[in-house]
Amino acid sequence: MKFPENFLWGGATAANQLEGGYDLDGRGLSVDDALPGGKQRMAIIAGPNFDWTIDEQQYVYPNHQGIDFYHHYKKDIALFAEMGFKAYRFSISWSRIFPQGDEQEPNEAGLQFYDLVITECVKHHIQPVITLSHYEMPLYLAKHYGGWKNKQLIGFFKHYAETVIKRYSDRVHYWLTFNEINSAAHFPVLSQGLIQQNGANEPRNIFQAWHNQFVASAYAVKAAHEANPDAQVGNMIIYATSYAYDADPINQLANLKHNQAFNFYCADVQVRGHYPSYAPALFKENGFTESDLDRTSDELALLAKYHVDFISFSYYMSSAIDATGRVTENISGNLMGGVKNPFLSASEWGWQIDPTGLRIALNELNDRYQVPLFIVENGLGARDTVQADGQIHDDYRINYLRAHIKAIQDALADGVNIIGYTPWGCIDLVSASTGEMSKRYGFIYVDLDDQGRGTLKRTRKDSFYWYQKVITTNGETL
Ligand code: BG6
Repeated sequence: MKFPENFLWGGATAANQLEGGYDLDGRGLSVDDALPGGKQRMAIIAGPNFDWTIDEQQYVYPNHQGIDFYHHYKKDIALFAEMGFKAYRFSISWSRIFPQGDEQEPNEAGLQFYDLVITECVKHHIQPVITLSHYEMPLYLAKHYGGWKNKQLIGFFKHYAETVIKRYSDRVHYWLTFNEINSAAHFPVLSQGLIQQNGANEPRNIFQAWHNQFVASAYAVKAAHEANPDAQVGNMIIYATSYAYDADPINQLANLKHNQAFNFYCADVQVRGHYPSYAPALFKENGFTESDLDRTSDELALLAKYHVDFISFSYYMSSAIDATGRVTENISGNLMGGVKNPFLSASEWGWQIDPTGLRIALNELNDRYQVPLFIVENGLGARDTVQADGQIHDDYRINYLRAHIKAIQDALADGVNIIGYTPWGCIDLVSASTGEMSKRYGFIYVDLDDQGRGTLKRTRKDSFYWYQKVITTNGETL
């Protein structure tokens, strides 16, 4: 099975994890700038004492420096071009454009930076695929407005989205609204700005925040279509294929419910344009009722009219569900939980490796929605060793990616409409969950350690040359 001629091979990154320059040229702080690095990062943020204070005596803040893409973007994009990228997925840092988030006037210096990045992509015939919000709302909106549960954020985001869409839509055709919007079920801090102190413990707030994001996303679809009739807007979900642990109907039902609540809920609204029939039951399971949510008829009409054009999703792992309590071995490290699947191995960070799960995901999403699918994240977080001669032999990463690309090929043969593949962290960057540099995904090595020490030098890994060949042969040489 051949990959389509215009298949979007490329790579993906996010502003907060690679740009650095966190306080340059008028940029405001984003929620990520207040997240300490290290394996305990998510536990600290989820704790009752976390209040966004930046304490540089106690913690390292790796997002402040990222990999300094802010000053290296030309060279980095040239390296992507050397691999033959057709698309580069990156995000705009909202607080670079609106430092607090609630201003009327954008920060021109911030807009100019993305002008330069986009121009560089276009120069190399790389399609920019832009995420409007990748885990980094302006910190001010989280602290002073209480994050996405506050409906005022819809207007702020609308203004931000319209500003950047108007500015770049002559050169940008692919837009994604909120990165991994459904991840708030497990860690609402990143995409919704919710911590314990402003209501993360109440599921109703998370669902209200989702509703507000759905509406904001619909405004972005409207703006993109009005600015350029050829524009394509996708939602973005984290998809972790989920299996019932065994044939026990109790586990099968639990898995079905899990899929509704996690894998499908947000996509159901954003793709179909209306709430699914199971929504009231899901609200009830979460301790509130429909009338507790503030959803106006105008908003519901907007959702119906401006649903997304395609689905983009990240795929790293699968999970297994046991509701009977018979299975006691949980998977560790993976923030989404679930029990250990005895048929799968896992990365050092506990993410279960399952290429067949990707083929299943593609079929499931295709069957359910029948819209184009774009895999905008996939990859293996692993430690790399630089050899004495400076080379990095990352055959483990090549094996992971090869198996997943093969699964995409099989899904194409199954009849699934897939438009592109942009593996995560095409250049090493700061990990979202742990703030580490040592959890690396890239084809390009960046000399930087977990404490932020290093030369920032970029080096092509073995996987760089391998992926280059994959792209040149349009997936025929794996
Ligand atoms: C996705 C996020 O969840 O997974 C990225 O969209 C993130 O921002 C990626 O970096 C990999 O996760 P991690 O925690 O290994 O960086």
